[in-house]
Amino acid sequence: MSKYDSLTKTPVVDIHTHVYPPSYISLLKSRSSIPYIRAFPPSEDLRLVILPAEDTESTSRGRPVGPDYYDIKNKISFMDTHNIDISVISLANPWLDWLPAEEAGPIAESTNNEIDYICSKYPGRLFFFATLPLSASAPTVLAEITRLKTLSHMRGIILGTTGLGSGLDDPNLLPIFKALAAASLPIFLHPHYGLPSGVWGPRASEYGHVLPLALGFPLETTIAVTRMILSDTFTLVPDLQVILAHSGGTLPYLAGRIESCIGHDSHLKAENKLGPGRRTVWDVLKKNIYLDAVIYHEMGLKTAIEASGEDRVMFGTDHPFFPPLGGDKEWASVVANVEAVKGALGDGKAAEMAMGGNAVQVLNLI
Ligand code: URA
Ligand code: ZN
Repeated sequence: MSKYDSLTKTPVVDIHTHVYPPSYISLLKSRSSIPYIRAFPPSEDLRLVILPAEDTESTSRGRPVGPDYYDIKNKISFMDTHNIDISVISLANPWLDWLPAEEAGPIAESTNNEIDYICSKYPGRLFFFATLPLSASAPTVLAEITRLKTLSHMRGIILGTTGLGSGLDDPNLLPIFKALAAASLPIFLHPHYGLPSGVWGPRASEYGHVLPLALGFPLETTIAVTRMILSDTFTLVPDLQVILAHSGGTLPYLAGRIESCIGHDSHLKAENKLGPGRRTVWDVLKKNIYLDAVIYHEMGLKTAIEASGEDRVMFGTDHPFFPPLGGDKEWASVVANVEAVKGALGDGKAAEMAMGGNAVQVLNLI
C-alpha cells in the first residue's frame, strides 16, 4: 500500500498556477521593451506588458500587476479561499526565453533556487515546475536539468513552444527531452506567443485580450504538440511525459482530423512514415500526455478525458490570471473549472482523482 492509499482525504492540487518571483519582477521593471513592467501616466498603476499586441495605446495595454503576481502570501490565501491543499507553481510566461544567451544560465539557476526557497516556506503545500535557460547553449540547459534534481520541491519543468528558437520539433531538443525523460521530469507545455497578430484582423484592439487568449493560446499549444508528434518525438523518447496546458488546447478535439490528415498524406507514405510502428495521436494522448483541467466547461473537459483517460487529467486554476473583475474573493474562473470536473466526472472517486489524486501520484507530491 502506498502512502497515498492510506490518506483519508485526497488533497486538492492545482497544477497550473503561476508566480513572478520578486527578482523576476525587478528584472521586468528594469526594462523598457517587451517583456516589461511600467506605469502608463496619468495612471500610476503598474502594468505588465508581455506580448507585442499588448504594447499599443489602448485599454488592453498590458495588464495590471499586483501582489497576486509576486507575493506568495496571496497565493496561499487564494488556495485557502478555494480549498486548494497543494499548488505546483511555475514561473509565468514568457519565462526566460527572452534573455541574452550569456545571462540565461545564471538567471535560470537563481530563479529556480528562489522558487524552491519560496516553496520551502510552506512545507507540503507548494511544489514547482522549474524553468530552463533555453536561450543558452544546450550544455547549459542540460547542466541545469542535472542541478534541478537537487532542489527538493521541483517536480518538472515548464516549457514554452519555441524551444531553442525553432519550435519543439527541433532535433537539437532531443538530448534535452531525453535528459528530462531519464530524470522522470514531466514537461508542462504552456503557450505564450499565440498566433501571428494578422489573423485577428484590423479590429483586434476592440476586443481586449479575448482573441489571443481564448484562441491564440490553445492553438499555439495544439500546433506545438502536433509538431512533436509529426517529428516522431514520442517514438524517439518514448518515456517523455508532457502535461498540456488548457486541456491540450484543441488536440483532444482535433485528434481524429490530425490522424486522418496523416493517414491520407502521400508525402508521408512515400517517406515510409505510415508503417505499422507509427505512434498514432491517440496512442500518444494515452501514454505520453497529461491534460490540465483548465478549460472552464464540462463540454471540453469530457473530450479531454475521453482522449487521454480520466487518470491523466489534473485540476488547475491559472492563478493569478483571470481574476474576478468585480474583486470578489471567490474566483468565478476557478469555480467554472471545479464545476467542469463535477459535470464531467460526477462527485465520486474519478472526480477526486482529477481534483488532486492524479497529480499526487504523477508528480509524487506526498
Ligand atoms: N494565462 C497565462 O498563463 N498567461 C497569460 O499571459 C494569460 C493567461
Ligand atoms: Zn497559465
